[in-house]
Amino acid sequence: MISIIGAGRVGTSAAFDILRFRISDVVLVDIAENLAKGEALDMMQAAPAIEFDGKIVGTSDFSQIAGSDVVVLVAGGGRKPGMSRLDLINENAKVVRSSVKEVVRYAPDCKLMVVTNPVDVMTYVACKESGFERNRVFGMGNILDAMRFRSYIAMELNVSREDVRALVIGEHGDSMVPLVEYASVSGIPITELLTKEQISRIIDQTRSSGAEVIKLKGATTHAPGVVIAIMVDAVLRGRNRVMSVSTCLQGEYGFSDVSIGVPVVLGKDGVEKTLQLKLKPDTQRQLEKSVSMIKDAIKQLQM
Ligand code: NAI
Repeated sequence: MISIIGAGRVGTSAAFDILRFRISDVVLVDIAENLAKGEALDMMQAAPAIEFDGKIVGTSDFSQIAGSDVVVLVAGGGRKPGMSRLDLINENAKVVRSSVKEVVRYAPDCKLMVVTNPVDVMTYVACKESGFERNRVFGMGNILDAMRFRSYIAMELNVSREDVRALVIGEHGDSMVPLVEYASVSGIPITELLTKEQISRIIDQTRSSGAEVIKLKGATTHAPGVVIAIMVDAVLRGRNRVMSVSTCLQGEYGFSDVSIGVPVVLGKDGVEKTLQLKLKPDTQRQLEKSVSMIKDAIKQLQM
Protein backbone atom coordinates (compact mmCIF):
# COMPACT_ATOMS: atom_id res chain seq x y z
CA MET A 1 0.00 0.00 0.00
CA ILE A 2 1.13 3.54 -0.78
CA SER A 3 0.47 6.69 1.22
CA ILE A 4 0.85 10.17 -0.17
CA ILE A 5 1.16 13.04 2.30
CA GLY A 6 0.00 16.22 0.56
CA ALA A 7 -3.17 16.15 -1.57
CA GLY A 8 -2.25 19.24 -3.59
CA ARG A 9 -1.59 19.39 -7.31
CA VAL A 10 1.36 17.00 -7.43
CA GLY A 11 0.09 14.58 -4.75
CA THR A 12 -3.26 14.07 -6.47
CA SER A 13 -1.71 13.74 -9.91
CA ALA A 14 0.59 11.01 -8.52
CA ALA A 15 -2.29 9.28 -6.72
CA PHE A 16 -4.35 9.12 -9.90
CA ASP A 17 -1.44 7.75 -11.94
CA ILE A 18 -0.71 5.10 -9.30
CA LEU A 19 -4.35 4.02 -9.42
CA ARG A 20 -4.88 4.06 -13.16
CA PHE A 21 -1.62 2.21 -13.84
CA ARG A 22 -2.90 -0.34 -11.25
CA ILE A 23 0.26 -0.02 -9.16
CA SER A 24 -1.29 0.11 -5.69
CA ASP A 25 -4.06 1.22 -3.36
CA VAL A 26 -3.51 4.77 -2.14
CA VAL A 27 -4.08 6.67 1.12
CA LEU A 28 -4.06 10.40 0.49
CA VAL A 29 -3.36 12.50 3.60
CA ASP A 30 -3.63 16.27 3.88
CA ILE A 31 -4.13 18.66 6.78
CA ALA A 32 -7.00 19.98 4.66
CA GLU A 33 -9.32 17.04 5.34
CA ASN A 34 -12.08 17.98 2.88
CA LEU A 35 -9.54 18.38 0.09
CA ALA A 36 -8.14 14.88 0.64
CA LYS A 37 -11.62 13.36 0.98
CA GLY A 38 -12.92 15.21 -2.08
CA GLU A 39 -9.96 14.21 -4.25
CA ALA A 40 -10.35 10.56 -3.20
CA LEU A 41 -14.07 10.60 -4.00
CA ASP A 42 -13.46 12.24 -7.37
CA MET A 43 -10.88 9.57 -8.30
CA MET A 44 -13.07 6.74 -7.06
CA GLN A 45 -15.81 7.97 -9.40
CA ALA A 46 -13.41 7.70 -12.35
CA ALA A 47 -12.77 4.05 -11.51
CA PRO A 48 -15.50 2.35 -13.55
CA ALA A 49 -14.47 4.22 -16.71
CA ILE A 50 -10.88 3.06 -16.53
CA GLU A 51 -11.72 -0.22 -14.83
CA PHE A 52 -9.47 -0.03 -11.81
CA ASP A 53 -10.41 -1.69 -8.56
CA GLY A 54 -7.76 -0.03 -6.41
CA LYS A 55 -8.90 1.58 -3.16
CA ILE A 56 -8.36 5.26 -2.51
CA VAL A 57 -8.84 6.85 0.91
CA GLY A 58 -8.70 10.59 1.61
CA THR A 59 -8.08 11.66 5.19
CA SER A 60 -6.33 14.01 7.59
CA ASP A 61 -5.76 11.16 10.03
CA PHE A 62 -2.11 10.09 9.82
CA SER A 63 -2.78 6.76 11.55
CA GLN A 64 -4.30 5.61 8.22
CA ILE A 65 -0.79 5.36 6.74
CA ALA A 66 -0.04 2.36 8.98
CA GLY A 67 1.28 -0.58 6.97
CA SER A 68 2.43 1.52 3.99
CA ASP A 69 5.24 0.07 1.90
CA VAL A 70 6.09 3.50 0.54
CA VAL A 71 5.18 6.93 1.91
CA VAL A 72 5.49 9.81 -0.56
CA LEU A 73 6.03 13.18 1.08
CA VAL A 74 4.75 15.93 -1.19
CA ALA A 75 3.26 18.34 1.35
CA GLY A 76 4.28 21.98 1.51
CA GLY A 77 4.22 24.83 -0.92
CA GLY A 78 6.24 26.30 -3.74
CA ARG A 79 7.71 29.81 -3.59
CA LYS A 80 5.14 32.62 -3.35
CA PRO A 81 5.60 36.30 -4.24
CA GLY A 82 7.64 38.08 -1.57
CA MET A 83 9.17 34.87 -0.18
CA SER A 84 12.89 34.22 -0.36
CA ARG A 85 14.29 30.79 -1.21
CA LEU A 86 15.41 30.49 2.40
CA ASP A 87 11.88 31.25 3.61
CA LEU A 88 10.69 28.33 1.50
CA ILE A 89 13.42 26.06 2.88
CA ASN A 90 12.53 26.69 6.49
CA GLU A 91 8.78 26.73 5.94
CA ASN A 92 8.86 23.40 4.11
CA ALA A 93 11.41 21.93 6.53
CA LYS A 94 8.81 22.41 9.29
CA VAL A 95 6.22 20.53 7.21
CA VAL A 96 8.73 17.77 6.41
CA ARG A 97 9.82 17.40 10.05
CA SER A 98 6.25 17.19 11.36
CA SER A 99 5.21 14.74 8.62
CA VAL A 100 8.28 12.54 9.17
CA LYS A 101 7.39 12.29 12.89
CA GLU A 102 4.00 10.85 11.87
CA VAL A 103 5.67 8.49 9.39
CA VAL A 104 8.05 7.19 12.07
CA ARG A 105 5.10 6.75 14.44
CA TYR A 106 2.69 4.98 12.10
CA ALA A 107 4.75 3.47 9.26
CA PRO A 108 8.19 2.82 10.78
CA ASP A 109 9.11 0.16 8.21
CA CYS A 110 8.25 2.10 5.06
CA LYS A 111 10.45 3.47 2.31
CA LEU A 112 10.18 7.27 2.49
CA MET A 113 10.22 9.18 -0.77
CA VAL A 114 10.58 12.95 -0.56
CA VAL A 115 9.23 15.26 -3.25
CA THR A 116 8.78 18.56 -1.36
CA ASN A 117 11.16 21.25 -2.60
CA PRO A 118 13.97 22.07 -2.36
CA VAL A 119 14.03 18.31 -2.60
CA ASP A 120 17.72 17.63 -1.91
CA VAL A 121 17.64 19.67 1.29
CA MET A 122 14.28 18.15 2.32
CA THR A 123 15.61 14.62 1.71
CA TYR A 124 18.56 15.45 3.99
CA VAL A 125 16.09 16.71 6.64
CA ALA A 126 13.99 13.53 6.27
CA CYS A 127 17.10 11.31 6.60
CA LYS A 128 18.12 13.05 9.84
CA GLU A 129 14.63 13.33 11.32
CA SER A 130 13.55 9.74 10.58
CA GLY A 131 16.73 7.98 11.67
CA PHE A 132 15.91 5.40 8.95
CA GLU A 133 18.71 3.49 7.22
CA ARG A 134 19.75 5.70 4.31
CA ASN A 135 18.60 3.25 1.62
CA ARG A 136 15.01 3.80 2.83
CA VAL A 137 14.98 7.60 2.34
CA PHE A 138 15.35 9.10 -1.12
CA GLY A 139 14.21 12.15 -3.04
CA MET A 140 12.74 12.74 -6.46
CA GLY A 141 14.01 15.32 -8.87
CA ASN A 142 16.63 14.18 -11.33
CA ILE A 143 14.35 11.59 -12.98
CA LEU A 144 12.09 14.46 -13.94
CA ASP A 145 15.14 16.41 -15.12
CA ALA A 146 16.24 13.37 -17.16
CA MET A 147 12.79 13.07 -18.78
CA ARG A 148 13.12 16.71 -19.82
CA PHE A 149 16.67 16.11 -21.10
CA ARG A 150 15.47 13.07 -23.07
CA SER A 151 12.52 14.99 -24.51
CA TYR A 152 14.68 17.85 -25.80
CA ILE A 153 17.27 15.48 -27.32
CA ALA A 154 14.46 13.60 -29.12
CA MET A 155 12.90 16.85 -30.34
CA GLU A 156 16.21 18.15 -31.67
CA LEU A 157 16.89 14.91 -33.58
CA ASN A 158 13.26 14.21 -34.51
CA VAL A 159 13.52 10.66 -33.15
CA SER A 160 11.36 8.69 -30.73
CA ARG A 161 11.69 9.80 -27.09
CA GLU A 162 11.62 6.09 -26.21
CA ASP A 163 15.02 5.54 -27.82
CA VAL A 164 16.75 8.35 -25.94
CA ARG A 165 18.45 7.32 -22.68
CA ALA A 166 20.04 9.89 -20.38
CA LEU A 167 20.83 10.71 -16.77
CA VAL A 168 20.95 13.96 -14.85
CA ILE A 169 22.76 14.15 -11.51
CA GLY A 170 23.30 16.80 -8.84
CA GLU A 171 20.82 19.31 -7.44
CA HIS A 172 17.23 19.23 -8.66
CA GLY A 173 17.61 22.90 -9.51
CA ASP A 174 19.70 25.34 -11.50
CA SER A 175 23.01 23.59 -10.77
CA MET A 176 21.81 20.18 -12.07
CA VAL A 177 24.33 18.25 -14.18
CA PRO A 178 22.97 16.57 -17.35
CA LEU A 179 25.43 13.76 -18.12
CA VAL A 180 26.29 14.36 -21.78
CA GLU A 181 28.96 11.64 -21.74
CA TYR A 182 26.37 8.98 -20.84
CA ALA A 183 23.46 10.15 -23.04
CA SER A 184 22.64 8.05 -26.08
CA VAL A 185 20.08 7.32 -28.77
CA SER A 186 19.69 3.52 -28.88
CA GLY A 187 23.30 3.25 -27.70
CA ILE A 188 24.71 5.90 -30.08
CA PRO A 189 26.43 8.64 -28.01
CA ILE A 190 24.65 11.97 -28.52
CA THR A 191 28.05 13.56 -29.17
CA GLU A 192 28.04 11.59 -32.47
CA LEU A 193 24.68 13.03 -33.47
CA LEU A 194 24.59 16.59 -32.15
CA THR A 195 26.95 19.55 -32.29
CA LYS A 196 28.37 21.20 -29.14
CA GLU A 197 26.05 24.16 -29.75
CA GLN A 198 22.98 21.93 -30.01
CA ILE A 199 23.93 20.06 -26.81
CA SER A 200 24.55 23.29 -24.96
CA ARG A 201 21.10 24.59 -25.99
CA ILE A 202 19.46 21.31 -24.90
CA ILE A 203 21.15 21.57 -21.49
CA ASP A 204 19.85 25.12 -21.06
CA GLN A 205 16.34 23.98 -22.00
CA THR A 206 16.55 21.07 -19.55
CA ARG A 207 17.60 23.38 -16.70
CA SER A 208 14.95 26.01 -17.34
CA SER A 209 11.99 23.89 -18.43
CA GLY A 210 10.50 23.43 -14.94
CA ALA A 211 10.55 27.19 -14.38
CA GLU A 212 8.99 27.70 -17.81
CA VAL A 213 6.01 25.49 -16.90
CA ILE A 214 5.62 27.32 -13.57
CA LYS A 215 5.68 30.66 -15.42
CA LEU A 216 2.99 29.47 -17.83
CA LYS A 217 0.60 27.61 -15.49
CA GLY A 218 1.74 28.21 -11.91
CA ALA A 219 3.05 24.71 -11.11
CA THR A 220 4.25 21.46 -12.63
CA THR A 221 1.83 18.57 -12.14
CA HIS A 222 1.62 15.85 -14.80
CA ALA A 223 5.34 15.17 -15.23
CA PRO A 224 6.11 15.00 -11.47
CA GLY A 225 2.96 12.93 -10.90
CA VAL A 226 3.96 10.25 -13.37
CA VAL A 227 7.57 10.18 -12.14
CA ILE A 228 6.32 9.54 -8.60
CA ALA A 229 4.24 6.65 -9.98
CA ILE A 230 7.25 5.21 -11.82
CA MET A 231 9.42 5.37 -8.68
CA VAL A 232 6.72 3.80 -6.51
CA ASP A 233 6.35 1.03 -9.10
CA ALA A 234 10.13 0.41 -9.05
CA VAL A 235 10.06 -0.09 -5.28
CA LEU A 236 6.78 -1.98 -4.88
CA ARG A 237 7.52 -4.44 -7.66
CA GLY A 238 11.23 -4.64 -6.88
CA ARG A 239 12.09 -3.70 -10.46
CA ASN A 240 15.67 -2.52 -9.81
CA ARG A 241 15.35 0.45 -12.14
CA VAL A 242 18.51 2.47 -12.79
CA MET A 243 17.64 6.07 -12.05
CA SER A 244 19.16 9.15 -10.50
CA VAL A 245 17.60 9.92 -7.11
CA SER A 246 18.56 12.20 -4.24
CA THR A 247 20.33 10.05 -1.69
CA CYS A 248 22.29 10.75 1.49
CA LEU A 249 25.92 10.23 0.55
CA GLN A 250 28.57 8.70 2.78
CA GLY A 251 31.70 9.12 0.73
CA GLU A 252 30.31 8.28 -2.74
CA TYR A 253 31.66 10.65 -5.40
CA GLY A 254 33.82 12.10 -2.61
CA PHE A 255 30.90 13.67 -0.65
CA SER A 256 29.34 13.11 2.77
CA ASP A 257 26.64 14.64 4.95
CA VAL A 258 24.57 15.82 2.01
CA SER A 259 21.72 14.44 -0.09
CA ILE A 260 22.06 14.87 -3.83
CA GLY A 261 21.04 13.13 -7.04
CA VAL A 262 23.28 10.26 -8.15
CA PRO A 263 22.47 7.13 -10.18
CA VAL A 264 21.17 4.24 -8.11
CA VAL A 265 19.44 0.91 -8.47
CA LEU A 266 15.92 1.53 -7.15
CA GLY A 267 14.17 -1.60 -5.93
CA LYS A 268 12.38 -3.37 -3.08
CA ASP A 269 14.61 -1.95 -0.33
CA GLY A 270 14.68 1.55 -1.86
CA VAL A 271 18.22 2.47 -2.88
CA GLU A 272 19.61 -1.03 -3.40
CA LYS A 273 22.95 0.25 -4.65
CA THR A 274 24.60 3.57 -5.52
CA LEU A 275 26.32 3.45 -8.89
CA GLN A 276 29.73 5.06 -8.86
CA LEU A 277 30.25 6.43 -12.40
CA LYS A 278 33.53 7.67 -13.77
CA LEU A 279 32.97 11.36 -14.51
CA LYS A 280 34.95 13.66 -16.78
CA PRO A 281 36.93 16.24 -14.72
CA ASP A 282 34.61 19.07 -15.84
CA THR A 283 31.51 17.05 -14.89
CA GLN A 284 33.00 16.25 -11.46
CA ARG A 285 33.64 19.99 -10.98
CA GLN A 286 30.03 20.78 -11.84
CA LEU A 287 28.86 18.16 -9.34
CA GLU A 288 31.14 19.68 -6.68
CA LYS A 289 29.56 23.09 -7.30
CA SER A 290 26.10 21.59 -7.00
CA VAL A 291 26.99 19.85 -3.73
CA SER A 292 28.41 23.04 -2.25
CA MET A 293 25.18 24.91 -3.12
CA ILE A 294 23.12 22.30 -1.27
CA LYS A 295 25.51 22.26 1.68
CA ASP A 296 25.19 26.07 1.92
CA ALA A 297 21.40 25.71 1.96
CA ILE A 298 21.59 23.00 4.65
CA LYS A 299 23.62 25.40 6.82
CA GLN A 300 20.71 27.87 6.65
CA LEU A 301 18.26 25.36 8.17
CA GLN A 302 16.87 26.52 11.51
CA MET A 303 17.04 23.63 13.96
P1 NAI B 1 0.16 22.41 -3.42
O1 NAI B 1 0.20 23.73 -2.72
O2 NAI B 1 -0.80 22.21 -4.55
O3 NAI B 1 -0.13 21.26 -2.33
C1 NAI B 1 0.56 21.15 -1.12
C2 NAI B 1 -0.39 20.46 -0.14
O4 NAI B 1 0.32 20.17 1.07
C3 NAI B 1 -1.61 21.31 0.25
O5 NAI B 1 -2.80 20.62 -0.07
C4 NAI B 1 -1.45 21.49 1.76
O6 NAI B 1 -2.71 21.50 2.47
C5 NAI B 1 -0.62 20.26 2.12
N1 NAI B 1 0.07 20.36 3.41
C6 NAI B 1 0.78 21.41 3.91
N2 NAI B 1 1.28 21.09 5.12
C7 NAI B 1 0.92 19.81 5.38
C8 NAI B 1 1.14 18.92 6.47
N3 NAI B 1 1.87 19.28 7.53
N4 NAI B 1 0.61 17.68 6.40
C9 NAI B 1 -0.12 17.29 5.32
N5 NAI B 1 -0.38 18.10 4.27
C10 NAI B 1 0.14 19.33 4.30
O7 NAI B 1 1.64 22.12 -3.89
P2 NAI B 1 2.12 21.13 -5.09
O8 NAI B 1 2.13 21.88 -6.35
O9 NAI B 1 1.37 19.87 -5.00
O10 NAI B 1 3.66 20.91 -4.68
C11 NAI B 1 3.99 20.27 -3.46
C12 NAI B 1 5.50 20.31 -3.22
O11 NAI B 1 6.13 19.50 -4.21
C13 NAI B 1 6.14 21.70 -3.36
O12 NAI B 1 7.14 21.86 -2.38
C14 NAI B 1 6.73 21.68 -4.74
O13 NAI B 1 7.76 22.62 -4.90
C15 NAI B 1 7.22 20.23 -4.78
N6 NAI B 1 7.50 19.70 -6.11
C16 NAI B 1 8.64 18.94 -6.24
C17 NAI B 1 9.00 18.37 -7.45
C18 NAI B 1 10.25 17.53 -7.56
O14 NAI B 1 10.64 17.16 -8.67
N7 NAI B 1 10.90 17.21 -6.46
C19 NAI B 1 8.16 18.56 -8.66
C20 NAI B 1 6.97 19.36 -8.41
C21 NAI B 1 6.66 19.89 -7.18
